[in-house]
Amino acid sequence: MMKSEEVMRILENAIRIGKGVIRYGSVASYIPELAKADKNKLGICLYTIDGNQFETGNTEDRFTIQSISKVMALCLALETFGAEFVFNYVGVEPSGEAFNSLVELDNRSNRPFNPMINSGAITVASLLVNHYSIEDMQKYMQDVCEDPEIAVDEAVFQSEMATCARNKAIAYLLKSKEIIDNDVEDSVTFYTKMCSMSVNARDLAMFGLLLANDGVQLSTGKRLISSQTVRMVQTIMLTCGMYDGSGEFALRTGIPTKSGVGGGLLSVSKKKMGIGIYGPSLDKKGNCIAGCELLGYISEALHLHIF
Ligand code: DON
Repeated sequence: MMKSEEVMRILENAIRIGKGVIRYGSVASYIPELAKADKNKLGICLYTIDGNQFETGNTEDRFTIQSISKVMALCLALETFGAEFVFNYVGVEPSGEAFNSLVELDNRSNRPFNPMINSGAITVASLLVNHYSIEDMQKYMQDVCEDPEIAVDEAVFQSEMATCARNKAIAYLLKSKEIIDNDVEDSVTFYTKMCSMSVNARDLAMFGLLLANDGVQLSTGKRLISSQTVRMVQTIMLTCGMYDGSGEFALRTGIPTKSGVGGGLLSVSKKKMGIGIYGPSLDKKGNCIAGCELLGYISEALHLHIF
C-alpha cells in the first residue's frame, strides 16, 4: 500500500475532480423529501484491508441508503434461501433499462432481470418478508456496516410511501405473474423501509470492506457472509449495480459499485478496500455524478481496476 500522505493527496484530488461536475447533476426529486438535500455535499471514506481509514469531505452526514440496500437484501436472501431458490425468482442479466422500469418485465421476461433494479429488489423483499421483520433487516444492516445507529428515516419513508405508485404498479405486475405470492403491500412497505435506512459514507465503506475481505469482518475475524455470496453479489454489482450505466462505469473504473438515489455509492476493491461515497447530485441515470467521476480517477491512481 502507498504512504498515507500519498493516499490523502489522491483523495483531495478526487474531491476536487468530483466537485467540478456536481453542477451538471441534480438531487432526486421524485421522492419529495430527497429534494431537500444539499447538492454540493461530497465525501469519501476508504477502509483498507490492512486496517487503515482515509476520509475527506462530508463523511459523517447521514442520508438514506436507497438502492444500496438491495445489495444487503440480496446477501441476506442468498444466505437464507440459497442461490438456486433466489435466482428462480429473479435473474442476473443487466436490463439496459432505468431502475424503475417495468417494460422489460412485461415484454421481455417473466422474471425481473436482476436484483439491483426495483422489480428485482421488490421480489427479493417479498421473499425476505416471509422470514424477517424490518427490525431484523435493520439489525443485519447495522451488523454488516458496524453501525448501531442505522435506523429508518421516517420522513423519507413517509415521503416515498406517499409517492410510490410506480413501485406498487411493479409489485402488482409481479403478483399478476405469480412472482410475488404473498401480500403486495407488505412487500412494498418492507422494500421502502429498507431503502429509508439512514447511513453515512463510513458505513458504506465498512460494508465494502467486509465484501472486499471475502465476508470476514476485519475487526473480529468473524465470518458474516459466505464466500459464494460475496462473489455472486459483487459480480451482480459490476454488471447491474449502476443500471443502464453499468457497462460504461465498469469499463471506466473496473470496481463493483452500487448506487442509491440518496446520493450514496458503495464500492468494493477485492482484497484491498471498501469505499463509501456521499454526493446527492445525481446524473440522469440516478447515480452520484461526482462519485462516478472521481472513482474513474481513484481507480487509476490506486490501481483498482479488476482487469
Ligand atoms: O424505489 C425507489 O425508487 C427508491 N427507493 C430507490 C431507487 C434508487 O435508489 C435508484 N438508485 N440509484
